[in-house]
Amino acid sequence: MKKKASDFRYNTGEARVPWAAVGENYNVEDMMSFIRFMMQGSGEDYEAIMRDVERDVRKLDAISEPPAKLSVDVMVAKAETMADEYLNTKGSLFVTNCTAGFEIAYKYANLEPGDEVIVPAITFVATMAYPLSVGCKLVFADVDPITLNMDPADVARKITPRTRMIVPVHIGGYPVDMDPIMELARKHDILVLEDAAHAFGAVYHGRKLGTIGDFGSFSFHEVKNITSFGEGGVLVTNIEAFRDDMRRARFLGADFTRSIKDWLYDVSACQGKRGPFVAGNYSTTEIQGLGLCRQIERIEEIINVRRMVATYLNDRLKECDALILQDLGSEDIRPTFHLYKLLIDPEKAGGDVQLFKKKLTQRGVTNIPHFGPLYRFNIMRTYGYDEDAIAETCPNCEEVFYHRFTHFPIYGLTKEQVDYMADSILESIDEMQRGV
Ligand SMILES: Cc1ncc(COP(=O)(O)O)c(C=O)c1O
Repeated sequence: MKKKASDFRYNTGEARVPWAAVGENYNVEDMMSFIRFMMQGSGEDYEAIMRDVERDVRKLDAISEPPAKLSVDVMVAKAETMADEYLNTKGSLFVTNCTAGFEIAYKYANLEPGDEVIVPAITFVATMAYPLSVGCKLVFADVDPITLNMDPADVARKITPRTRMIVPVHIGGYPVDMDPIMELARKHDILVLEDAAHAFGAVYHGRKLGTIGDFGSFSFHEVKNITSFGEGGVLVTNIEAFRDDMRRARFLGADFTRSIKDWLYDVSACQGKRGPFVAGNYSTTEIQGLGLCRQIERIEEIINVRRMVATYLNDRLKECDALILQDLGSEDIRPTFHLYKLLIDPEKAGGDVQLFKKKLTQRGVTNIPHFGPLYRFNIMRTYGYDEDAIAETCPNCEEVFYHRFTHFPIYGLTKEQVDYMADSILESIDEMQRGV
């Protein structure tokens, strides 16, 4: 493997002795490990093919060059351009993951201890981690009992003069009702950060989700609709004045377009809403960039397959009046079908969702509702929150989470798998109704 020269992060121009050699730290054996990891297998046939592959990789090594950069460069830039074209945005920023995107948006808000941030009662801990870490008060909005998304009417009730941010989460990729949220935010001068972790490709009244609030952050973690080799996120903003600083905020505020005396670059604070802030390092790799480019090309196809599976499942389950099925949306409201949400009516089902889940697990159907009431986590007690007092302000959350809600996998499953899932759901409900 040759030692391709890298200018590292500095624009040093043509150099006879480059600053570093990116190709130095991996060789053919490493490349073979990569192929073996990405395409796992065993047995004689597999090993025979691998021997051929290794022979070819060695031949390739003799005539090819490694990339000049592995950290943020042309592939990351290409992924950002593709994200912008797809989302109809400007200045998409590819970052380590969705949580990193949140952190930049939260830092822009210059949050201080005692500031309030409204998040939905049901989401993933990533939504609230940063404001909790800087001493903000988290305020939990109750959820809509069917979509499980933040209820705008409850958000309105919970706004106070200290509210700095509202964070709608499009759970399972189904759109939060954004219009009333944006109206409230504008009226009270509050920033909106869309947690669009599940929602790359979803549409709300003609606009892509994640592009409606002041910020939107998407996740490309391995379980999402599309992934950039396991981890990744894209942050977008509608705050034009912040776009340049947002780019610098990906890497510690470094500015490679300027230099200070006798040095190659400068560092300035990024400018937030009410003052400067210090950025962290949220950089990605070129390999993640490459992965995201390939996946964005297929996003429409992926969503269509998921919609077809959801439609088929709904068709199989529609006669059962104890079930409330995943909303398939419309032209105007298009989910990504990251999850297939299913609610049961405990009275009609003859039992609640805990029993239902037990029966499904016995049948080998995965149904892990890992999005739960955040205020129930131990960490909230550590920071002095009273979980029962909060629960009283979130009655829908308590009812749906503990008694009604579960969700199912909905990717390109085989017809046999979907039929098995439908049969298992119907049989479980039937058993519950018969009390067996
Ligand atoms: C609702 C929600 N928000 C945020 C995240 C965080 O995404 P990431 O893992 O890319 O940081 C997740 C991840 O599963 C999520 O489910």
